[in-house]
Amino acid sequence: MSRKTVHVCSECGAQEAKWHGQCPTCNAWNTLVEEAVRQEATAGTRRLRAVGSTARGQAPRPLRDVGSAPVERMSSGIGELDRVLGGGLVPGSLVLLGGSPGIGKSTLTNMVLGHLAGAGHRTLYVSGEESAEQVRLRAERLSAGAPARGALDVPILAETDLETILHALEDERPEACVIDSVQTLRSAELSGAPGSVGQVREVAARIMELAKAQGTAVILVGHVTKDGALAGPRVLEHLVDCVLQFEGERERPYRELRALKNRFGSTNEAGLFEMRQGGLVEVLDASARFVAEATRAPGSVVLATMEGSRPLLVEVQALVAPSELEQPRRVVSGLDRNRLALVLAILGRHGGIGTGAADVFVNVVGGVRVDEPGCDLAVALAVAGASRGVALADSPRACFGELGLTGELRWVGHPERRLEEAERHGLGEVIAPPDSGPGSRGAATLREALAIAMPGGPQRRPEGVVRASRALSEEAPAGAR
Ligand code: TYD
Ligand code: MG
Repeated sequence: MSRKTVHVCSECGAQEAKWHGQCPTCNAWNTLVEEAVRQEATAGTRRLRAVGSTARGQAPRPLRDVGSAPVERMSSGIGELDRVLGGGLVPGSLVLLGGSPGIGKSTLTNMVLGHLAGAGHRTLYVSGEESAEQVRLRAERLSAGAPARGALDVPILAETDLETILHALEDERPEACVIDSVQTLRSAELSGAPGSVGQVREVAARIMELAKAQGTAVILVGHVTKDGALAGPRVLEHLVDCVLQFEGERERPYRELRALKNRFGSTNEAGLFEMRQGGLVEVLDASARFVAEATRAPGSVVLATMEGSRPLLVEVQALVAPSELEQPRRVVSGLDRNRLALVLAILGRHGGIGTGAADVFVNVVGGVRVDEPGCDLAVALAVAGASRGVALADSPRACFGELGLTGELRWVGHPERRLEEAERHGLGEVIAPPDSGPGSRGAATLREALAIAMPGGPQRRPEGVVRASRALSEEAPAGAR
C-alpha cells in the first residue's frame, strides 16, 4: 500500500509535489516538509463536505454526563519515574523521552521494560541505534539489580524500517514498547532521511495510531541538541501525551527527569537518579547528600528550593574573577542565564556589589536544574560571598526568595515546606522573605539579607575585584552576553 507524498509548507500550508528550498507560495526558506497523503482522511473530508450541516455524529453532551473512567496505570518499577509520569505508564499512551546522547535514556528504558517483563507484562524493545548484542550487554549489567531483573526476558527488535516495526507491534501486541530512538526510524513511503522532520512526524503518527488501537504504552526515545531543544522530536510535542526530559552532566553521576508536558499528571514533578555501575539508582534523599557535600567556602550557599511538590536543598556555588575580556563572561549551569543577569543587576544596584568587569560563574551543584524564582537570593548571596571573598555566616545557613527589581525580597511558594526541609537537615534558621513562617529569618530587602548573611560586613576584597566594583559604579550593570 504505497502512499503518495506531498511537501507541505509549515508557514503557509501550501502543498507542492516536489521539494523546494523556498516555498513558491509564501517565499519562506526551508519550510517544506514531506508528508504522506492519507487516503482515508481525504475521503472522510470529502464525505463531510458533501453531507454538509446534516452530518450526524456524536451529539455534544454536558461534561457531568461524561463517565470518568479511572486511568489504569502500569508501574514502571522505578518510583521516581512513576511519580514524574503521574502514577505510572498509561496503556495506549505515547511518552516522549528526550535527552542528550549518553545521559542514560537507553538505560532507563531498558530498566522499565526489564521490570515490566519481570512482572509478567508483554514488552518489546525496538532498537534502531544499537545492535541486539549491544543491548544484551547492557541488559546483563542491569539484570543484576533487583528493579530490572527481567531485563534479559525483553524481546528485542534491532530494526529501523517503520513498516517492519509496525508489523512486529501487531504480532507481538506488547503492553509496553520502547522505540530507541525515533530519529533512527524511517518509513519507506517517504523519501526523506531518518530524523528529518517529515520522517519523525510520520514515524510517531503511525506508531501512535497503532498503539492507541491496541492499548500499547509506547516510550519514544528522542535525542536533543546541545542547546537543549528536542530537535527532531520538538515537532512531536503536540502529538504525544507526555514529554519527559532527562538532564544532567555526563561527567557527573546525577540525572534529573522532568515532565515538560503531561496529559495524565502534573508537570511539576522531577525525579532524581544517580548513574552507577548497575544502572540508574533513585536518589531518595537528595537534600541530605547535597547538604553534606556543600563546601561552605566563600561563594557557597545552600538554597531551599522546590522541585515540583518536593522541597530540595541544593548548594549554589559562585566564582567571581577579574575578567580579561571586553565582555566579561557570565557562565551558568543549572540556572537560567537571564535570571543570573537580572540578579547581578539587582546586586549591583541595590546590594552595592558590582560585578561589571568580572567574570561570573554560577553552578547548581550536582547537575540539578533550578527553575523557580525562589533561587534569586541564593544566587545573589553566592555571588556576593565570592566577589568579596567572605564565607557566609554559620547561621542562618540556607536561604530562598525572589528578588524584585527594586531590591525587595519577594514571597515565593511553599515557604513552610522549604523551612521544614532545612530544619530536618539541621540547617536551623533560613533567610527568607518576611512572613515565611517559623524557622525563617525574615529579610525585606536584599540589603537586609546581605547584612544577615555577612554580619562582619563585606570588607575583604580580593585583588582585582576592587577594580571591578569601582568600574561598576560608573556604568550600568552588564547583562548576560
Ligand atoms: P545510555 O543509556 O546508553 O545513554 P543514552 O541512551 O541516553 O545515549 O548510557 C549512558 C552511559 O551510562 C554510558 O556511557 C554508560 C553509562 N552506564 C553506567 O554507568 N552504568 C550502567 O549500568 C549502564 C547501563 C550505563
Ligand atoms: Mg541510547
